[in-house]
Amino acid sequence: MESDFRGKTALVTGASRGIGAATSIALARSGCARLLLHYNTNQAGVDQVRAGAEAAGAEVLLFQADLGCGQGIQSLIAAVQKAAAPVDILVNNAGSLVARARLLQFTGDLYDRVMNLNVKSAWFIAQAVAPAMMERGGGCIVNLSSIAARNGGGPGATVYAAAKAAVTAMTKGLAKELAPKGIRVNAVSPGTVDNDFHARFSTRQVLDAVVAATPAGRLGTNEEVADVILFLCSAAARYIYGQTIEINGGMLMV
Ligand SMILES: NC(=O)c1ccc[n+]([C@@H]2O[C@H](COP(=O)([O-])OP(=O)(O)OC[C@H]3O[C@@H](n4cnc5c(N)ncnc54)[C@H](OP(=O)(O)O)[C@@H]3O)[C@@H](O)[C@H]2O)c1
Repeated sequence: MESDFRGKTALVTGASRGIGAATSIALARSGCARLLLHYNTNQAGVDQVRAGAEAAGAEVLLFQADLGCGQGIQSLIAAVQKAAAPVDILVNNAGSLVARARLLQFTGDLYDRVMNLNVKSAWFIAQAVAPAMMERGGGCIVNLSSIAARNGGGPGATVYAAAKAAVTAMTKGLAKELAPKGIRVNAVSPGTVDNDFHARFSTRQVLDAVVAATPAGRLGTNEEVADVILFLCSAAARYIYGQTIEINGGMLMV
């Protein structure tokens, strides 16, 4: 796979922990020349990822932005454009439940934050990097969906689930639009990954129940998702367009 990534520039959002951090390190170790790493609050985390990527030989640029609001999305796009580093690989990874809330508690502000972070940011960052991909006649975009897009999500996660379903639909539409330009768009859909996301949003009891219902008998790891993201960006996936690959230990088979 290494030759697929040599000399490439990748933009990974939400690179400061979890799946985004593992993907960034894997891209650097696979030969990516330049990584544009976005983070929001976890400066220490992204510094650690930067050190790992640089040790693997990649040049790293960091970008901070809150993608839960339109202004943050615009500031990231402006900063990436200012860096004048045409992107070959975009991993729209930043995402979150933001907060668990049921229908009667849900506020307009929370709705906007969930949609901005999980959907709007992915769409407009793709819009920002696509022209340079088109000019060079190639590129790969991988979006992060979720098992929630198929099962409606756990308690208080309905809008997050709807956002991820939008990501899956957007992946298909964008794949059709960009395929003639040589750009492949796909998504990955993790089940339950053992990382900070669930440390924050799920109890041990819930996670134990997920493990019990998972044929693989365990939660997923960040690296297992990162491996599929890299596969989708590699030449081995050259005829894969608009797909959302489920990564869930058999928890949901579609
Ligand atoms: N973990 C799972 O089981 C699971 C399952 C299905 C789908 N996913 C999806 O996979 C992607 C990665 O999640 P993860 O599991 O790696 O979660 P994570 O460990 O919580 O990491 C989330 C990343 O997104 C960034 N982020 C969160 N809120 C943000 C905001 N308002 N603005 C900008 N960036 C923000 C975080 O930045 P800072 O830390 O710097 O603030 C962090 O880098 C997400 O899209 C998530 O929805 C995860």
